[in-house]
Amino acid sequence: ILKKRIAVLPGDGIGPEVCKEAIKVLEAVSERFGHQFEFDTQLMGACAIDATGDPLPEKTLDACLNADAILLGAIGDPKYDNNPAAKVRPEQGLLRLRKSLGLYANIRPVTAYDVLLEHSPLKNNRIKGADMLIFRELTGGIYFGDKGRTENGAYDHCTYSKEEIVRVTHLAFQAAQTRRKKLTLVDKANVLETSRLWREVVQEISPEYSDVAVDYLFVDNAAMQVILNPKQFDVILTENMFGDIISDEASVIAGSLGLLPSASVGDKLALFEPIHGSFPQAKGKNIANPIATILSAAMLLEHFELQKEADLVKEAVQNALDKKVLTPELNSTSAYTTEQVGSFIAYYVVEGSESLPH
Ligand code: IPM
Ligand code: MN
Repeated sequence: ILKKRIAVLPGDGIGPEVCKEAIKVLEAVSERFGHQFEFDTQLMGACAIDATGDPLPEKTLDACLNADAILLGAIGDPKYDNNPAAKVRPEQGLLRLRKSLGLYANIRPVTAYDVLLEHSPLKNNRIKGADMLIFRELTGGIYFGDKGRTENGAYDHCTYSKEEIVRVTHLAFQAAQTRRKKLTLVDKANVLETSRLWREVVQEISPEYSDVAVDYLFVDNAAMQVILNPKQFDVILTENMFGDIISDEASVIAGSLGLLPSASVGDKLALFEPIHGSFPQAKGKNIANPIATILSAAMLLEHFELQKEADLVKEAVQNALDKKVLTPELNSTSAYTTEQVGSFIAYYVVEGSESLPH
């Protein structure tokens, strides 16, 4: 029996709805295997600004620091997106959380699911079998450099220390060793000094992982290659902003942004969240796809070294995909609700078999 405390930050928009289904699935895991998960739900994002004026209240940060892992829904609200002058923004909460918890590596797996090939706008033969793992540096670069206004302009500084590159690079190489043993560094070394430092560091470290083949791509070319020939990629390693952009782009391969999970890890803590945003248009409609958050919960189980449990959750998700128990963006003719998809997957986890919702 395993006892773990999980801080839950449902956030904004569809965040609470998808978190609820992931918790349902984690509770199914504890019922099946006899683990004890304690959930500690806290405010973050626009909802926290509304309640306290701060997107990351101290109570929330404390709860995260005291948890064994963190599950996050999504944050963001259009009222801030359309107001560039807003001083306090929901995203600041997420960025401060990543920084305060030292979550320097964001890991985003992208898989082309056979049963969903038709849903990708890309040609099936190009994406069938694609399977990549994106390592995005998460606490440095242009996101965290000095930023501000001048009299007639604005600036965002992109800075990286060697150590910031070294630690995420080791994690990416180690992951490549457990996979197809290829690592692609995506950068803009023909223009940016920080990118030249990334290349230097990766070249320095690569001899320690001599079983891993390394190649280098400029980010503009990489953006094209991800769509043109995604099967060439195994592990992609890249800096913060390039990783943000390339991972949304790569999600087209999976057929829906609503399928992609992520883990953000540091030396101690780890946070798990879907890569999609708060999808405000869908809030409260029970149509959001909970699978990205459920697969994030599976990554959380792997972090607890509960591989059997994580595999069962993934099997249950695969079963939902096979049986087309899916939300409207993936099943327009006979769509299921967010709650039905979550329950279908949770039921499979408890029983090892299915019961179709009606
Ligand atoms: C992501 C998001 C965030 C990011 C935003 C909400 C700050 O797009 O997790 O990819 O840019 O990192
Ligand atoms: Mn993003």
